[in-house]
Amino acid sequence: MMVDKSTVKEEALKRIKITKTAHSRLGEVDFNNLAFGKTYTDHMLVADFDGKEWKNAEILPFQNLSVSPSNAAWHYGQAIFEGIKAYKDPQGNPMIFRPYDNYKRLNLSAERMGMVEVPEWLFVGGLDLMIDLDRDWIPTNEGSSLYLRPFMIAADEYIGVRPSETYKFMIINSPSGPYFNQPIKLLVQDKFVRAFPGGVGFAKAAGNYGGTMYPTMQAKKQGYDQILWVDGFEHKYLQECGTMNVFAIIGNTAITPDLSQGTILEGVTRSSVMEVLKDMGLTVEERPISIDEIAAAYKAGTLREVFGTGTAASVAYVEELDYKDLQIRMDSTKYEIGAEVIRRLDAIRTGRAADTRHWNYLVGR
Ligand code: COI
Repeated sequence: MMVDKSTVKEEALKRIKITKTAHSRLGEVDFNNLAFGKTYTDHMLVADFDGKEWKNAEILPFQNLSVSPSNAAWHYGQAIFEGIKAYKDPQGNPMIFRPYDNYKRLNLSAERMGMVEVPEWLFVGGLDLMIDLDRDWIPTNEGSSLYLRPFMIAADEYIGVRPSETYKFMIINSPSGPYFNQPIKLLVQDKFVRAFPGGVGFAKAAGNYGGTMYPTMQAKKQGYDQILWVDGFEHKYLQECGTMNVFAIIGNTAITPDLSQGTILEGVTRSSVMEVLKDMGLTVEERPISIDEIAAAYKAGTLREVFGTGTAASVAYVEELDYKDLQIRMDSTKYEIGAEVIRRLDAIRTGRAADTRHWNYLVGR
């Protein structure tokens, strides 16, 4: 249950100790050449769940942790995370894009992984205090933003297999450029599978990413950027890319795989893009979509665009899509719909367009 923003903020201020860095590293950062996820802001947030309550919440200078080799997360993978972005409006005020959606999703992931719930004062309130403190780290160059990474890991020092009783919640933030610098090539995977119904595919669990490393490495050796995962039964219904959800524009309809099987992450960018597409007059359908349907539309000349959406990736144009003998080649320089989605979304996120859906969380107010 979500409570009033000022109450959350008050609670955060009461319960989170703030220790500021004496030596900011801000001057060392080249904001014109930001890669994704390589540089971290001056501060991080750490809090401990001791089996009964969240305590020791602190924002402190970014530093390494000391962790026991018997840490349960390392052995059995109780580890979940979120990705969120912060921007500045034209007056320089920091804003976080839809943090409540990520807050809810983290707790959904926590439930599925048998982990403890994170309270709103710690997640949303913690983000607010951190971004307020590290506001000068928010890049303003086009395509750049401050990428926020809240995460939680098991903290028990125990190698018996059972849900951990203690947990650590943390937030680290990274000024980042685009995740992909150019249109991408996707391999539709027909052998390896990312998620099955009843599994953990809908959760933002670290293991979901770990399991994709080997097949993705193989795909990269063949020149692809990512894998487009399909269902494990018929190997033809699209799921997601692992770091992104996927959209196909066929005629005047935008189609994205539905969430009913529990195999796909419910992307916050996915939901934002669906709304923006509707604003643009497209019909949006969340439903099963097969690679055969994509192939048929491609052959009929009605497949207009394919793109991925994600917090890190934003909107990533797909220019190649291969499945067995099928080769789809798209000219992404002609993607007018994807380009308009990016324009509209960026304008909202940076306060240059009306935020009619109240997606932006204003920091420090
Ligand atoms: C995100 O888009 O935030 C993700 O988590 C994808 C990836 C960087 C792991």
